[in-house]
Amino acid sequence: MNGISKRFPGVVALDGVTIEVRRGEVHAICGENGAGKSTLMKILSGVYQPDDGTLLVAGREVRFAGTQNAEAAGIAIIHQELALVEDLSVAANVFLGREKRGTLRLIDDAAMEAECRRLFALLECQVSPQERTGNLRVGDQQLVEIAKALSLEASIVVMDEPTSALTEAESARLERTIARLVEGGATILYISHKMEEVFRLADRITVLRDGRHVCTVDRAATSPREVTAWMVGREIATEGFRNPRHAGKKLLEVQSLTLPWPEHPRGYRLADVSLNLHAGEILGIAGLMGAGRTELLETLFGAGGPTWTGTIRLHGKPVRFSHPREACAAGMALVTEDRKRLGLFPDLDVAGNVSLCSLDQALRGWLVSRSAEEELVAGPVRATGVKTPGLHAAITGLSGGNQQKCIISRWLLTNPEILLLDDPTRGIDVGAKAELYALIDRLCREGLGVILTSSELPELLTLADRIIVLAEGRVTGEFARHEATEAGIMEAATAG
Ligand SMILES: Nc1ncnc2c1ncn2[C@@H]1O[C@H](COP(=O)(O)OP(=O)(O)OP(=O)(O)O)[C@@H](O)[C@H]1O
Ligand SMILES: [Mg+2]
Repeated sequence: MNGISKRFPGVVALDGVTIEVRRGEVHAICGENGAGKSTLMKILSGVYQPDDGTLLVAGREVRFAGTQNAEAAGIAIIHQELALVEDLSVAANVFLGREKRGTLRLIDDAAMEAECRRLFALLECQVSPQERTGNLRVGDQQLVEIAKALSLEASIVVMDEPTSALTEAESARLERTIARLVEGGATILYISHKMEEVFRLADRITVLRDGRHVCTVDRAATSPREVTAWMVGREIATEGFRNPRHAGKKLLEVQSLTLPWPEHPRGYRLADVSLNLHAGEILGIAGLMGAGRTELLETLFGAGGPTWTGTIRLHGKPVRFSHPREACAAGMALVTEDRKRLGLFPDLDVAGNVSLCSLDQALRGWLVSRSAEEELVAGPVRATGVKTPGLHAAITGLSGGNQQKCIISRWLLTNPEILLLDDPTRGIDVGAKAELYALIDRLCREGLGVILTSSELPELLTLADRIIVLAEGRVTGEFARHEATEAGIMEAATAG
C-alpha cells in the first residue's frame, strides 16, 4: 500500500500511509482508537477507495471498486463491526452472494450446510449451520464471519479485532486457526488492542498514529511498552486503582436467581445465583462465553424477560423490573456487550446517542433544546475522551472504540447508583482503557456500585474487589481481590 490517504468530512483518516506486507506473515496493525486502522484495511479490501495512493498485490497495481473485486484478488476481511444478516441462517450468511447451487440453479442448502459444518469443525465451533444468525451471541457471530472468510479461501485475510468479543479459550482456538491458515500459505493482517496477543501472534508490527504511519518493526526487535509508547506518543499510568476501596451500604442483593431455558436440554440459563453488591465496590463476574454473564446483567436490568424466579432486592426492597426503563428510574444503568445491536442508535448523532436516557434534563418547556442538549453531553463526552469531529457528527462515522465511549457517556449522564458493565472495554485502546479504569475507580470511590464482566481476566484482576465465577449458569467460585489468580478463576470457570 503506497501513500494511501483518505479523508472523511472533518477528518483526515489516513495521511500518506505506506506499508508493505510479506507473503505468509502475520502482520499486526496497532494504534489508538481512531488512528485509521480499520479505514486502511477497508481500503485494502475494497470497501473504500483511497483519495490518494496505490495498492499493489504481488507487484501488480490493483483498483478495487468493491469488496467483490478484492475477494477475486484473494483478499477477505472480517470486519470489526459484524455485518451479518440476522434473519438468515448461519450457513446462508457464510455463503451470502455466493450461494451454492445445484440442479436447476436452485440454492443447495444441504451443500452449504455441509461445507459450513466442515469450516466450523476447523474453528472448533459448536453452532448449527441452520441456526438463525440473530439468535447467536456476538462471540459466535464473529466465528461465522471467520468461517465466511475461510470459505473464500483467501490468500490475504484481514482480521479487524477478531477476538474483541471472544473469551480466552475461544481466542486460543482462533490462534490455532490462524496458525493453520499461515501453514496453508495465507497472509494475515491482524488488528488488536490486546498487546499480549499481538506479541504472541505477529511476525511484524505496524504502528499508526492519527492517520500516519509511525513505523513497521520486527516483533522480536521491540516490546509491548515500546509499541504502546509509539501508539499514544506518551507513557501511560496503569497503576493506582489497586489501593483498597471501602465498601459502603448494601445496594443490591440477589438470592437464588434462576432463569429457565425451556428449549434447551440444560433447562436453565441461570441457576440459583446469589450475590451482593455494596456502594463503592466493583464486583467482577468471570466466566466463559455462554456461562450466563450477560443473562445475569440483563435480568437484573429488567431486560431478561419475566420468567426468572428468586429475589432481587434493591436497598433491601424486593424489585421486579419488567422493562429497562424501570431499572433506569431506580438508578441502574447497563452498558451492553453488543454495541451495534443493543447500544447504538445509528440514526442519531453523537449528542443524540449520549443524551438519549437523560433527555428530560435538556427540556425547555415541552421541547428538547439543542443548546441544552449540547451543554448536557459535553461534560461526559470530554470525561470519557470521545474523539469526534463534533457533537453533531454521525455516530456511525466514529471509530469503534469511540462509539463505545459514547455509550458509556450516555449512562454516566443518568447518574446511576449501580452500573452494570458487560465487557465495557471491548475494542478500546490501551490509553483509553487506562482512562476508563481511572474513571470507574473514581466513580466507585464516590459511592457507585459496579458489576463488571470482562472477557479479559487481567481486566477483572485489575479492577474488581471481588470476583464471582459462573460456569454453565451456576456460581462455581468466589474470590476476594487478594486471593484471585488467573489459574484459580479459569479452574472455576471450567468446572464441570
Ligand atoms: N465512514 C466514515 N465517515 C466519517 N468518518 C469516518 C468514517 N470511517 C472512519 N472515520 C473517521 O476516520 C478516523 C479513523 O477511523 P478508523 O475506524 O479507521 O479508526 P480505528 O483505528 O480502526 O479505531 P478503533 O480502534 O476505534 O477501531 C476516525 O476519526 C473516524 O471517525
Ligand atoms: Mg477499527
